[in-house]
Amino acid sequence: MKTVLAIETSCDETGVAFVQYSDTKEYISLANALHSQIDAHAPYGGVFPMLAKREHGHNLMHLLGNVVTETISKKNVEYSKISPSPEKIEEALTHLDRETELQEICKKELENTESLLYMKPNIDALVVTAGPGLEPALWVGISFTKFLAILWEISILPVNHMEGHIASVLLSEKSEVAFPALALLISGGHTEIVSIEAWGKYEVIGKTRDDAVGEAYDKAARILNLPYPGGPAISEHAKIIRNTYSKADANKLCEKYNIKLPSPMIHSQNLDFSFSGLKTAVLYLVRDIKKTQDISEEILNLICYEFEESVVELLSSKLNFAYKLKPETKTLIVAGGVIANTYIRETIDAWCREKNVFCFKPEFDLATDNAVMIGLAGIQGLLQNNPYVEDLQTLVARGGWKIDDVY
Ligand code: KG4
Ligand code: ZN
Repeated sequence: MKTVLAIETSCDETGVAFVQYSDTKEYISLANALHSQIDAHAPYGGVFPMLAKREHGHNLMHLLGNVVTETISKKNVEYSKISPSPEKIEEALTHLDRETELQEICKKELENTESLLYMKPNIDALVVTAGPGLEPALWVGISFTKFLAILWEISILPVNHMEGHIASVLLSEKSEVAFPALALLISGGHTEIVSIEAWGKYEVIGKTRDDAVGEAYDKAARILNLPYPGGPAISEHAKIIRNTYSKADANKLCEKYNIKLPSPMIHSQNLDFSFSGLKTAVLYLVRDIKKTQDISEEILNLICYEFEESVVELLSSKLNFAYKLKPETKTLIVAGGVIANTYIRETIDAWCREKNVFCFKPEFDLATDNAVMIGLAGIQGLLQNNPYVEDLQTLVARGGWKIDDVY
C-alpha cells in the first residue's frame, strides 16, 4: 500500500488531495479539495500569473484543512499528534519566506495548539508539482510542501504536471495500461504527443510550435466575445449546430456565410501542431464578416462549429501519423483539460475502435487540473523507486520542465 498527499499549483487551480494505491492494486482518491480561480482570471481572458500566485497563497491552508478533516472523519488516513520544537517550527516557516501571506496564515495556524498542522499523517510521501507551469504559481505549492515536509518529517517527491495528466487515467481504469502506449496531451498550456514505453519512460514525439489547443480555444473565445475559459463556451455553441444539422447541411451553411477555417500543418509530414494560425484565421474571419453584417447567433454557432471541426481534424490526422510511426501501440492515453470536450472524447473513442487500441481517458472531473492526478503520478514514482528530494534547496520551480527530462 502507498499513500501520498499531493499539492498542485501550476496554473489557476489550487489542489490538495490524499491518494492511495491499495494492497489490491487499486488507485483510490481518499480526499480531494480543489479551488478553481476561473472567476478571478475571467476578466483578463486568461491566467494572470501574479494573481494565480496570490490566490494559491490564500487557499492552500484552507484546502489542506479540508482533506485532513475529511480523512480524519472517514478514518482512511492514520494520524499521530506531534509537538515540534520551536526551532523546528521556525525552520519550517523559513521555507515560506517568499510567500509572505501564506507564511502569516501558517504562523497564525501554528499558534493554535489544536491546529490540524499538529496532526501528522502516516503517509509515504508529499508529492508536489514542480513544473511545467507558471513559476510564481508553482513556487507557492513547492514552498508549502517544504514547510510541511519539515514540520511533519515526511519526504518529498516532485512530479511533472504532464505526467500527472497521463496518470489521471489510472483512477478510472481498472485494468493496467498496456505498453507501448501513446499519449495525446491537450491542455491550456500544452499540446504534445508522447511515446510511452513504460511508466516513467517518455519521449515527446510531437508538439505545438506555438499555441496549445486549449489556448487556441481560449483566444478564439476572446475574439468571439465568449467567456473564459473558451473551451466549454465554444463547444456549447458548436454543439447547437451538430444537434440541429447533419454534417452536410452544416457545411452548406458554412459555405453560405463564407465560414471556412484552416487546419494548419495538417499535411506536414511530422507530428508538429500549430494552433496560432487557427486563432488568427478566426480573427480575420470575424473581421471580414463584420464588414457586411453583424455576428448573429447562428453565425457565432457556425464559427464555433467550424473551429471545433478544424481542431478535431488536426488532432485525428496527427494521431494517424503517430500511429503510422508506432504501429505497435497498444494503448492511447488522452489527457489534459481539453479532453473534457465531449465531441473530442467521442472522436478519440472512434479512432481507438478503428485502430483496435485501448483508449484511456480521465474521468470528467480529473480532465482539468487537480491534485489527484499529481498524487497518482507520485504513486507511480514511488512504485518506480524514483528518488525523494534529499536537499530541499535543490527543489525549485521548473516552468519549462519537459516530461522526458529527469528532474
Ligand atoms: O489541463 P488544464 O486544466 O490546464 C492546463 O494545464 O493548461 O486545461 C485547461 C484548458 C483551457 O484552455 C480550457 O479552455 C480547456 O482546457 N477546456 C476545454 C474544455 N474544457 C476545458 N477545451 C475544449 N472543450 C472543453 N469542454
Ligand atoms: Zn494541466
